[in-house]
This record gives sequence, C-alpha cells and structure tokens, in this order.
Amino acid sequence: MKIPLSNPDITDLERGYVAKVLESPHLSLGPMLSEFERAFASYMGSRHAIAVNSGTSGLHLALRGLGVGEGDSVLTSPFSFIASANCILFEKAIPVFVDIDPQTYNFDVTKIEDVLARLKKNAQRPKAILPVHVFGRPCDMSPLMELAKSHSLTIIEDACEAIGAEYKGKKVGTFGDATVFAFYPNKQITTGEGGMIITDNEQLSRLCKSLRNQGRSEDGSWLAHKRLGYNYRLSEINCALGLAQLERIEEILEKRRRVAAVYAEKLNGMEELHLPGCGAGEKVSWFVYVVRLTDKYTRQDRDKILEGLRAAGIGCNNYFTPIHLQPFYRGMFGFSEGDFPVTEHIAQRTIALPFFNSLTEGQIDYITENLKRLLFKEALR
Ligand SMILES: Cc1ncc(COP(=O)(O)O)c(C=O)c1O
Repeated sequence: MKIPLSNPDITDLERGYVAKVLESPHLSLGPMLSEFERAFASYMGSRHAIAVNSGTSGLHLALRGLGVGEGDSVLTSPFSFIASANCILFEKAIPVFVDIDPQTYNFDVTKIEDVLARLKKNAQRPKAILPVHVFGRPCDMSPLMELAKSHSLTIIEDACEAIGAEYKGKKVGTFGDATVFAFYPNKQITTGEGGMIITDNEQLSRLCKSLRNQGRSEDGSWLAHKRLGYNYRLSEINCALGLAQLERIEEILEKRRRVAAVYAEKLNGMEELHLPGCGAGEKVSWFVYVVRLTDKYTRQDRDKILEGLRAAGIGCNNYFTPIHLQPFYRGMFGFSEGDFPVTEHIAQRTIALPFFNSLTEGQIDYITENLKRLLFKEALR
C-alpha cells in the first residue's frame, strides 16, 4: 500500500471554475481575482483581502506594508516552517525567537515579556510580533494582544496553516494588524500555489495591492511604477481553484476533523505517544496530524520510525526542524543546540502522519498498525 503525506481534494466544482477561466480572455488580474478576494474577506469577516502567489510573498508584503524595516526586531516562533522567519530577513529585520509551549507547540506567550525586557536592555528595537498558529492550533491571542498594545507592537499573524481555526469564538486571523494564509497543495484549501493577506486597514490593503503588482500606481496605468514592487500576483487559474475550494471550506474542514478523530480513536491510550489536542476555547483547523514520541524515545528512534514508515509506503515527515538550527540561521546569528530547548526537545520526537480529506479508515488502520509495530521495536532496542 502507498499512502501520501497529503493529497488535495479537487472536485468538478474546481474543474468547472478553472475551465471557465481558460475559456475567457482573462488569465491574470481578472474577475476571478476580485471574486476570490471578496469571498475570502467575507468568510473571514475582514474588510480587505489581497491575493498573492504564496504565503511567503504574503508575509513579505505584510511586513513591508506595516513598516518593518532594517534593524527592527520581530518576535516569532522557532518551531515553524522556515518562511515565517525568512520574511523578517527579507526586510533586513531581526527574527527574535521565543521558545514554545510543550502543549500547543506555539510560542509561549508567558515568555514574551522577558524577551522584550532583554531587547530593550540591549537597545534593540522590538517592532512587531509574528505569531504562527502552528499545525492549525490557535496561539494564545488574548494575552498576546494585551502585550502588543502595552508595548505598541504590530501583530502579523501567520495563519498559513490555520484557515478556519478559532480562538474564544473568533476566527484566527482577525486579531492582528494583518494576517497571512497559504494555499500550497498540502493546505486545507489549495490554489496550487498561493496566499492571501487580510486586514481591516485600507491603506495597508492599497499598499499591498501595489507592491504585489510591481509597485504600480492605483490609477491602473501599466507603465507607471510609484514604488519598488514585486510580481507576487496570483493568476486567474489559481484564483478560480481557490474560489471553488473556499465555497467547499466547511465540508473540507469537517472531513479533516473526521480523519483526525479516527486517528485519535485508533491511537488513544498509547503510552508511547502524545496525540495532538485542542485546549479550552480553541477550535483547531486540522492541517496535519502530528504525533510526538514520549521522552524515552530519542531522535534516532524517531528517525528510524520515519524510515520504517516510508519503507511500508507511508508518507511521513519530521515537522519541523527548528528554524534556528537551519545552517544559515546558525551562520547568521550564531545559534546552536540548546538555545531553544523546548522546541528542540519536541522537534526531535515529532512525526507527521498522512493527513488528507479522503484518507480512509482502512488506510488509517494500516498506518497506525505500522506505527505501533515500529514503536514497539524501537522501545525494545
Ligand atoms: C507556518 C507557515 N508559514 C508560511 C508558509 C509559507 O507558505 P508558502 O509555502 O505558500 O509560501 C507556510 C507554508 O508551508 C507555513 O506552513
């Protein structure tokens, strides 16, 4: 049996919308773009939505648009996909990592006050906080918003993995000054490649629209460039795919909830594993299903289990290698092992199992039986 790690859920609705674009004269900057943005803003309850060609470009524009610049410090998580920190480097700002909470895997908000005090003592300029709702689980937004307010810091939410997640009944993404979502094919909804910035700030929205389109002015003239911009546009084909996916979002999120529930049922009670969970007042949007081995297992055990799963045809991965331990972060900032011990401890023991809408109970049986076999083998070593 071969089971991929992820698999997009594409139906005739998506095929129909994409075909409509291909039959039209507009392949970029056409009606699908406005429609996708309008539908997305409406789903989120935000005033503006700006589609871009990746989550990474969305994060870049949000930071640039909100004035994060050279030498500014931006607090974020070291336990994330690398783009959430790279976007800070794009603007010559400094990523300042805050170690994570071992339950939620999101950065630990109770550690932020100390980090800010240290920055101020060293005459560094904290400018923004970039919370990552990792694996679709919401960050602890109430204390975070208070901190941001009391220290006059901008909040840019990285909700690339968290569309549809909620914190205290409010959608993740509606807390910050701007939020970014991503639509790579492993995400809850996909556009192939793509991302979306949302904000209630009209000026920011205009600026991001100009920046994604080579810095063009709003008057629409093609060869007038008001500022340094980029080509971060999302084509009509991608927007059509995204629009259809967004129309199906409740069905998609429900399917993912069901798959997560089946995993939980099959793995429930196993002493060898920590299963992904959900705290009070939180609604997780299931992006991936990441289990964690207990402390008796080492990183080597985990790697052998990954190998064993792959040998059985099961797609899996070690989400994530901590960002501060990636070679160029070590080189740029002198990070080394031990700098963020909770992140490192957890990152050595995580296993992302196959997770997609059409995963069947039979496939989950196969995955969990293999996982149990390998866990037992490594425990006996
Ligand atoms: C937390 C996080 N931030 C940013 C990104 C970047 O998104 P993209 O791959 O669309 O550039 C991703 C995508 O994997 C992500 O998971």
